[in-house]
Amino acid sequence: MFSFIYFAFASLLLSLPLLCSAAPLQYRRSQASPQKRDSYTLQDTYAGANFFDSWTFFDSSDPTDGYVAFRNQSAAMSQGLAKVDSNGTIIVGVDSTTTLTTDQLNAGEYRGSVRISTQKTYNGGLFIYDVIKMPVGCTTWPAIWSTATDSWPNNGEIDMIEGVHESTQNQVSIWLGGVKPSSRSISGSVSNLVENTDYSNCDSTTNDNGCPTMDPTQNGWGANFNANGGGVFAKLWDPEVGIKIWHFTRSNIPADITSKNPDPSSWGNPVSFLPNGDNCDIASRFKDHMLIIDITLCGDWAGSSYSCGGTCLAATGDPSNYVDAQFMLNSILVYQAS
Ligand SMILES: *[C@@H]1O[C@H](CO)[C@@H](O)[C@H](O)[C@H]1NC(C)=O
Ligand SMILES: *[C@@H]1O[C@H](CO)[C@@H](O)[C@H](O)[C@H]1NC(C)=O
Repeated sequence: MFSFIYFAFASLLLSLPLLCSAAPLQYRRSQASPQKRDSYTLQDTYAGANFFDSWTFFDSSDPTDGYVAFRNQSAAMSQGLAKVDSNGTIIVGVDSTTTLTTDQLNAGEYRGSVRISTQKTYNGGLFIYDVIKMPVGCTTWPAIWSTATDSWPNNGEIDMIEGVHESTQNQVSIWLGGVKPSSRSISGSVSNLVENTDYSNCDSTTNDNGCPTMDPTQNGWGANFNANGGGVFAKLWDPEVGIKIWHFTRSNIPADITSKNPDPSSWGNPVSFLPNGDNCDIASRFKDHMLIIDITLCGDWAGSSYSCGGTCLAATGDPSNYVDAQFMLNSILVYQAS
């Protein structure tokens, strides 16, 4: 006890001069920086106890053919599938307690899950997602993405976080809305992955998969991501620049993100970059996106890639497959260049 008090007292003394000099140091540094950059103003904060007030719960059958029953808001909240815990952690998950019989599943009585979208729509911005945990488990197909409220795919789709089952890699996919662009060459200092992408093939009407790019790191998705306390995903959607996605592990989150003064020009290569240009006019191909979070089961991707034994449908009957099938987030912040 004595040594604890002594330690606390000593560290208080030590920290005082640091606290006092923090502000002027920061001020000097920003004055000294010669580099011109956009500055960003916080527009929307999705966080805290009222998080779900600004989202719509989608409760129709899954457009991607999953064996899932998306719950409306009152059902999702009363069943604990959508909640904000006492620490302000936002949780969106799959029912992990109900057992479903083969008869129930064959009758289309599927497992409860959540698909939510923002009531507000966007035509650009800098979107910062602080994610603590990704859903993992056989049959799962979670995604954090954005698209327009209607006329899909004409207004494009940006899949920032997406994977299936027990994958360890995040797949970022960008689907262009509108007519197919002619082939274009990609240049600039972007990751190899993006340079290898053929953007002439991103048109959703001719390529059913959009333009996928795999985050090469093994900690951007799934169990490894979760074991490290998650991290931050940033999406810059700037009609003049293009669309860029970054991923930072929890221990590598840039200080300017933490201090809510984000500076994408300092973040290095994105995981994915679709540049604006003659063949791909970002402003006309991406419009009026709502932000979406969902977890479906089986369906077009997780169903066709299922390999955990038996059928994907039968596996959805077992609640033990869903003990880790939750997204946990601290916040989603939306900034606009100013
Ligand atoms: C929500 O769904 C439940 C069934 O899951 C249903 O009983 C209830 O009427 C629905 N509520 C609304 C507002 O649609
Ligand atoms: C809140 O955070 C504390 C400290 O990290 C943790 O012990 C506790 O389990 C958390 N509470 C909930 C409801 O997650």
